[in-house]
Amino acid sequence: MSDKNIPLRERIILALDVGDKTQARAIVRRTESHIGFYKVGLQLFMADWFGMVDWLVDRGHKVMLDLKFFDIPETVRLAVAQIRDRGVSLATVHGNDPILRAALQERGDLKILAVTVLTSFGEEDMRAMGMTQSIADLVAFRARRALELGCDGIVSSGLEAARIRHELGARLLIVTPGIRPGDNAAGGDDQNRVMTPGQALAAGADHLVVGRPVTRAADPVGVIEQMQDEIAAALVGSAC
Ligand code: C5P
Repeated sequence: MSDKNIPLRERIILALDVGDKTQARAIVRRTESHIGFYKVGLQLFMADWFGMVDWLVDRGHKVMLDLKFFDIPETVRLAVAQIRDRGVSLATVHGNDPILRAALQERGDLKILAVTVLTSFGEEDMRAMGMTQSIADLVAFRARRALELGCDGIVSSGLEAARIRHELGARLLIVTPGIRPGDNAAGGDDQNRVMTPGQALAAGADHLVVGRPVTRAADPVGVIEQMQDEIAAALVGSAC
């Protein structure tokens, strides 16, 4: 666990994975008593471009813009320049050293997260792509490169967080998707490398990206409260 004095309401980054701004705004209005950090990803960005980002920022919320830039370095550099001065807190970039370096050139106050290996990936997906490395080794390698290049953080599953903290220390921000409540830890969807909120925090994650377990719940605020209780307990446990 790394102590960066992150308020409880910013530990969960709620993924607004819906197809239009009306639905997205309804989720925000329903949850913002508990949540102060939202993620705009590809689906919502395609629907509303910067409209939703600006609305969230104007409302005083932090925004993770998760567009996972992956292109030649110059294109990534110019894309980062487009989102830099809009009040976004975190942006995600995929790729090798030149791509990450290009993104970092334009970051300004924006924090750049390097995506290591998607949490939907399993070992069998690695084999299918002809890769012989384990996911844990690949994530550790990419996390080290991200740190050495000056990235602010990484996106990884909770399963790799403990090793990254052990090997690389506290400086990197670890943002962890693939979060599932204890009663649904197997996921049952496209996520593969999953953990409960408490496990991920205890392993060293700083923020947890949560989407469907909250947005598709009958009682979203109830799920958030349960997760935040777990997070608070993991934080207390780590301080003992
Ligand atoms: O619904 P669920 O909780 O699985 O949502 C996870 C969110 O995290 C999705 O918006 C997905 O795009 C994002 N994400 C991920 N794995 C990564 C990076 C981002 O699942 N490595």
